[in-house]
Amino acid sequence: MKALFVEDSPADAALIREMLTGVRNASFELEHVNRLGAGLERLEAAEFDVVLLDLMLPDSRGLETFTRLQAHAPRVPVLIMSGLDDEEVAVEAVRAGAQDYLVKGQVDPSLLVRAIRYGVERKRTEQALKESNERFRTLFENATDGILVSDEQTKSFVMCNGTMCRMLGYSPEEMKNLVLADIHPEEDLHSAARRLEKPPGKKTSMLVDIPVRRKDGNVFYADIVLSSITLDGKTYSMGVFRDATDRIQAEDLQRELEAEKMVVEKLKRLDRIKNDFVETVTHELRTPMTPLRSSIEMFLDGTLGEITPRQREFLEMIARNVERLSRYATDMLSLSRLESGKHTLHPSHVTLLPIIRPVVELLRRNARKKNSSISLNVNSEMTAFADPDAVSEVLTNLLNNALAHTPQGTRVIVSSKLPREHCVEISVADSGPGIPKHAISKVFDKFYQAGRDSGPGYKGTGVGLAVCKALVEAMGGQISVKSRPGKGAVFAFTLPTTRLT
Ligand SMILES: Nc1ncnc2c1ncn2[C@@H]1O[C@H](COP(=O)(O)OP(=O)(O)OP(=O)(O)O)[C@@H](O)[C@H]1O
Ligand SMILES: [Mg+2]
Repeated sequence: MKALFVEDSPADAALIREMLTGVRNASFELEHVNRLGAGLERLEAAEFDVVLLDLMLPDSRGLETFTRLQAHAPRVPVLIMSGLDDEEVAVEAVRAGAQDYLVKGQVDPSLLVRAIRYGVERKRTEQALKESNERFRTLFENATDGILVSDEQTKSFVMCNGTMCRMLGYSPEEMKNLVLADIHPEEDLHSAARRLEKPPGKKTSMLVDIPVRRKDGNVFYADIVLSSITLDGKTYSMGVFRDATDRIQAEDLQRELEAEKMVVEKLKRLDRIKNDFVETVTHELRTPMTPLRSSIEMFLDGTLGEITPRQREFLEMIARNVERLSRYATDMLSLSRLESGKHTLHPSHVTLLPIIRPVVELLRRNARKKNSSISLNVNSEMTAFADPDAVSEVLTNLLNNALAHTPQGTRVIVSSKLPREHCVEISVADSGPGIPKHAISKVFDKFYQAGRDSGPGYKGTGVGLAVCKALVEAMGGQISVKSRPGKGAVFAFTLPTTRLT
């Protein structure tokens, strides 16, 4: 065993050395210095198992001698070698952590050796306990949950960990002066206190969403596991607090999402009902159109007998309105079916001119009535992968618009081009007034009519372009418009030339 002996009296030093060398069954390696400064240096330089310390040294006197040495080497056990005159100080040193004190002149070898051995052993146990305490303390302080122990009777706080302090915003000292009522908001205290009551017969209880007030007055919600513990015969309640803010927020978010989902589902259901309704009504509207149209034709061509010019005038007016109603019903039906996904197109490889030409010829009649003209400039070779009925519906709508929303004498041109690979473009350009800038982005919206409220003129319903857009997109193309006010409008739609994968 390596011992450091700090002693300024050569006689005492010699005596102790003598005692220790004479001991059987124990070998001491004794190193002697006569000043505290020298002792501290030695402790710095080498490991010692024990220090025998005289408190009255040339460079330090009294308790200070011990405290300085201990501060320097806290892990080494120290035995005080006291003179008769400083026995009181020696007792104080033991209180401050020295292992023992021996009065010089009253020791014999076996007493000395035993004191050293016990001292070393005690220090080792103390050290182990201290380390284990520190480990426990670190775990306790940094646990993810806040831990708070309070007196069951007085409700005052007895102990808490660092996590708890951080959760509440108080320092550990401030916590010691608080009671349960300080951390539960007054308005909630009553119910919180009631909920904090432990169910009889149960050791622990779990409390959810308990309001807790921070030092700054803010309230957060915590889940608390509450249990009773007994320390030194006294009962305390221990609460393990977990901040529930994140959980509550996640639950709120989840609830909002569920609510939104339900709204979406409801809207979808309503949309389906609406589409079904529109479909039924428009279908019923369309059915009598064909016999109506042929009856009027028969009146007009004289099959049903002579008619007067006045009767003809009225019949033609009826025919125009039947036409309008029929077109409206067709558009509404297409739109509703496209929206509900029921409109099934039948695209195939088609040459475009044979589809376009009949539409243009049919509408040239209307154009002539307005002194307007439609010229056709479509490449006869041009093909697309498209539904022919849909292409004529789109073109009919675009040409109707080009005639309806323009004054007399408008020139309309239908032309084609190949803007890029696997794509054709058909455009309808007119020389009319064009579309105002603010309306450009809206013309494809359902029921949108630019300038609808500006006096008499064409009375449509505003679905034509919405139908065109839906049809073109269903075939894998795009529709767009370019217009400068006063310089006419150009509507163009593309179609794929091959089947889309
Ligand atoms: N060639 C055009 N020149 C000027 N404005 C146009 C032209 N084409 C469309 N518009 C404007 O866009 C609006 C929407 O057109 P859309 O075809 O959707 O409806 P509509 O023609 O008014 O009615 P519907 O086609 O249902 O009978 C029109 O009301 C019109 O204001
Ligand atoms: Mg239209």
